[in-house]
Amino acid sequence: MKIVNSIQRLRTTVAQWKSQSFTIAFVPTMGNLHQGHLALVNAAQKKADKVIVSIFVNPSQFSAGEDFSNYPRTKKQDTEALIIEAVDLLFLPAVDEIYPDHAKTHVIVSELSNLHCGKYRQGHFTGVSTVVCKLISMTQAHYLFLGEKDFQQLTIIQLMIRDLNLPIQLESVATVREKDGLAMSSRNGYLTFKERQIAPKLYQSLSQAKKYIIQSQQSFREIEQQQKQYLRESGFTVDYFSICRVDDLLTANRGHQALVILAAASLGKPRLIDNIYLTLG
Ligand code: PAJ
Repeated sequence: MKIVNSIQRLRTTVAQWKSQSFTIAFVPTMGNLHQGHLALVNAAQKKADKVIVSIFVNPSQFSAGEDFSNYPRTKKQDTEALIIEAVDLLFLPAVDEIYPDHAKTHVIVSELSNLHCGKYRQGHFTGVSTVVCKLISMTQAHYLFLGEKDFQQLTIIQLMIRDLNLPIQLESVATVREKDGLAMSSRNGYLTFKERQIAPKLYQSLSQAKKYIIQSQQSFREIEQQQKQYLRESGFTVDYFSICRVDDLLTANRGHQALVILAAASLGKPRLIDNIYLTLG
């Protein structure tokens, strides 16, 4: 596996691959890799001749007071895991390689970036869309692999690619879960033993809501309230639990068919997000 820190060396390798007509898939990450990340890598390997993985803890997507400085950085283990997976190139840039001093340009996907997680994490999605746009431009890959675990992020990047006519095809990969249903996440490592026992209830509440949408006549707002109550009683602080239209993530009502239920809730300090989608009729 090639390990590259500079944009210039990345571009040289990509140019060589393209001159040989190889197809390239790109998997952006912030490291601390787990089976969820590796599922993206494996899907990318099935789709393209060459796979690039980036590890970059992107400062601009962390708001003040969030865990940027404490975010788990496990470069050695991550590199070993990617070598075992036979990834072709690991892009490991420093912050000043990605953000020159006084950068003035941001990519803002309006409206959608202010909903759900965007309400609770000011500027987060602008940080994400800007860095993903820059990484797409640096890697010049044919395919971009993102996880459904971060459903709002996925929807925002899809819109950005469409609106900016970026020459890349987005591929999404299903959420990888622990045996008890908890979605794998780098932030699960922050959970105490006791919080870890409670954490699977987030996915259980999403599954319950899905069942009630299908089997009951209750309004979506009633179902949301019920599940928020269940999560609060289990010890969560709930940011949101919202039954949405899958296309634009706006509020859904009975009659809408393609749905996604998005939820974010904290257990002590760690904040967990998860989602489930379904199509009615
Ligand atoms: P990170 O949290 O490291 O996630 C990298 C990719 O892995 C994202 O596409 C995410 O959706 C996916 N992923 C995480 N957990 C997953 C799981 N349990 N199952 C399937 N896929 C999973 O998301 C980011 O980094 C950053 O915002 C990034 C896109 C790299 C931009 O900085």
